[in-house]
Amino acid sequence: MSPGGAKDLAFAVELAREAGVLLRRHFGEAQEIDYKGRINLVTRMDHEAEALIVGRIADAYPGDDVLAEEGSGHSAGADRVWIVDPLDGTVNYAHEYPVWSVSIALQVAGRLEVGAVYNPLLDEMYAGRRGGGVTLNGTPRRVSVESRLDHAMLATGFGYELGADAERNNLGPFSRFLLRGRAVRRAGSAALAISKVAVGRTDGFWEGGLQPWDMAAAMLLVEEAGGRISNYAGGPARVDGRQLIASNGPLHDAMLAVIADHPRADYGQPSADGDPPPRDEMMLYYVGWLHRGPNQDLSEEEGDRIQRAHLAYIRRQKDAGKYLLSGPFADKADPRGILVIRAASREEAEALAAADPAVQAGALRLELRPWYSAKGITIVPPNEPAPATGIRS
Ligand code: IPD
Ligand code: CA
Ligand code: CA
Repeated sequence: MSPGGAKDLAFAVELAREAGVLLRRHFGEAQEIDYKGRINLVTRMDHEAEALIVGRIADAYPGDDVLAEEGSGHSAGADRVWIVDPLDGTVNYAHEYPVWSVSIALQVAGRLEVGAVYNPLLDEMYAGRRGGGVTLNGTPRRVSVESRLDHAMLATGFGYELGADAERNNLGPFSRFLLRGRAVRRAGSAALAISKVAVGRTDGFWEGGLQPWDMAAAMLLVEEAGGRISNYAGGPARVDGRQLIASNGPLHDAMLAVIADHPRADYGQPSADGDPPPRDEMMLYYVGWLHRGPNQDLSEEEGDRIQRAHLAYIRRQKDAGKYLLSGPFADKADPRGILVIRAASREEAEALAAADPAVQAGALRLELRPWYSAKGITIVPPNEPAPATGIRS
């Protein structure tokens, strides 16, 4: 049989429908819930739907591998791999929120060939195979032609491992798309949301932290419907790439630009490890706090001389690009001050501080703290001469 043939698609469609009917029959019943994580839950019906799908595949195609979310698949290195989410939108299902789906894809020799995503509550089947286009309940459909982001209907989702970082937990991209698109929806079933792009109901989708079963079938659908899929950096979308931008095509570059438009320039680089990329390109600076030193018994003349030497030293380090900022911490009567030092190492920062004439004389004491700043944030040293730090009180 040819890879991704009509027979495989018909099989996937019937199987998604059968599992969907089973799930629909039990929708609204109290669910026994197990927790895979704080938010990531699984119900008895996830397992029952998966058992049905995996069993049918094993009967029909005993030599094929199955990758299924709840772990009942099997892998023997076969060329053909069925990628199954028996219930996409489990949290919705458990809360009787009517947005969830069944997603079944077939990958042959690493290439997606068939995709079927079924919405049982609306009895809507999104289906397609490579070279065969996409249908919604049998009617051919294509992506939208919208080219303006401010007219675009977008969708996204939030994974289970949220964390505090706004680019990783999606609140950063979400707020940017909200301000630039027409509307953003997060309905809770990635497979359905991506499939809607394929049939032109929405114009674009993005999400990080996805698993192969969330997106495999719908990725094929978007491609087959004339849309574009990529990772966050515009590189090839992979089923195991954890992140996806799926669009109608005309909007893709604008979506990539919104994803990239964040304060951290290293986010979104293609990475074999998926999203988020492992590199943290932060610049390391040292903040130096100037305190009153141990030697406060200087004559007025001596104090003035050291003060001048201290200011001249700071100015030299600024000219050399080593000190980025300096200034009094409080008022002129207070000897405390602050420095921002750019040094390759803590040792270099310490050596710079130790060579300050006021530190050498014991009039000032410098305390160093490392300080990280995002790449791309530049601290511009002021042109004016450094204000007096006032060594003597
Ligand atoms: C989840 C849904 C959700 C998405 C999550 C997925 P599940 O799948 O697709 O929309 O935001 O990333 O894990 O757990 O309901 O099958
Ligand atoms: Ca899922
Ligand atoms: Ca699932």
